[in-house]
Amino acid sequence: MSGADMLSVRVSKKTVEAQGIQSFELVDAQGAALPAFTAGSHIDVFLPGGLIRQYSLCNDPKETQRYVLGVLRDPASRGGSQAMHDAVNEGDVLQISRPKNHFALAPGAKSSLLLAGGIGITPILCMAEQLAQQHAPFEMHYCTRERERTAFFERISGAAFAAQVQFHFDAGAPEQKLDIPALLANPEAGRHLYVCGPKGFINAVLDQAKAAGWPADQLHCEFFAGEEVKALAGDGSFEVKLASSGKVITVAADTTVVKALADAGVEVLTSCEQGVCGTCLTRVLEGEIDHRDQYLTPEEQAANDQFLPCCSRATSPLLVLDL
Ligand code: FES
Repeated sequence: MSGADMLSVRVSKKTVEAQGIQSFELVDAQGAALPAFTAGSHIDVFLPGGLIRQYSLCNDPKETQRYVLGVLRDPASRGGSQAMHDAVNEGDVLQISRPKNHFALAPGAKSSLLLAGGIGITPILCMAEQLAQQHAPFEMHYCTRERERTAFFERISGAAFAAQVQFHFDAGAPEQKLDIPALLANPEAGRHLYVCGPKGFINAVLDQAKAAGWPADQLHCEFFAGEEVKALAGDGSFEVKLASSGKVITVAADTTVVKALADAGVEVLTSCEQGVCGTCLTRVLEGEIDHRDQYLTPEEQAANDQFLPCCSRATSPLLVLDL
């Protein structure tokens, strides 16, 4: 990432929002306005210890004086959420990227259905703020394990759009739990669905929506980084060839393309290393890709001309890369 894409910010406030969840308010280190963003945007945060993690912005997108992040301490963390909770404090200066948006609201939607599971509330809350300001019709459902783990409960309960939000607690009474099949039973033209949260929650929502006949272009989701890329049973080795030099590199069954390239002295810029952020996107000129990412759309994957080498592999013996 070039210096022009980086921002220096100061942590102006760190707040416990719920059990295991803290929010971080970031302001420009020199006191200037921050670049504007739209609902669904995230930033890369360069953490102490050299990690880079993506976090959605959850404040009102009309604010340019601050960015607010919500971070769940993930017990299975590979260090990112722990570093945010333990090593980032009020007054610290951090480097971040400019906001990027891979989870934008569809322009001109007739109505929107927003579904958040756990810490997946962060981009969804930002969407609710933006839709409320635009007086656009929407309904929001926020599922958590229990009230104590529900970040931003007071903020949402006191918001102008509170009447459009329903909370659902896994540990609560059966009648208040989210009935996904009932909610998604009747797709409508122009009604867009947005879902963010744990992988199981997102998949349950998307599978149900597809089964109920929702068109794919009305479904929008954002996965979080969190699961380490693992080799699957049956993964074999294959080769990648660099189009610029003709150099051929073997990718062993138990490594990734990015690591094999790095071992051969070829650096590909990465960030999440889990197929979520898109940083390592690389053009493929020949060969068949085995897509393992959550970043490309099914149509983009089917085009077979680009892949995320931090996680994706090959089904053919050779991939020719535009490197
Ligand atoms: Fe994030 Fe590859 S590094 S998708």
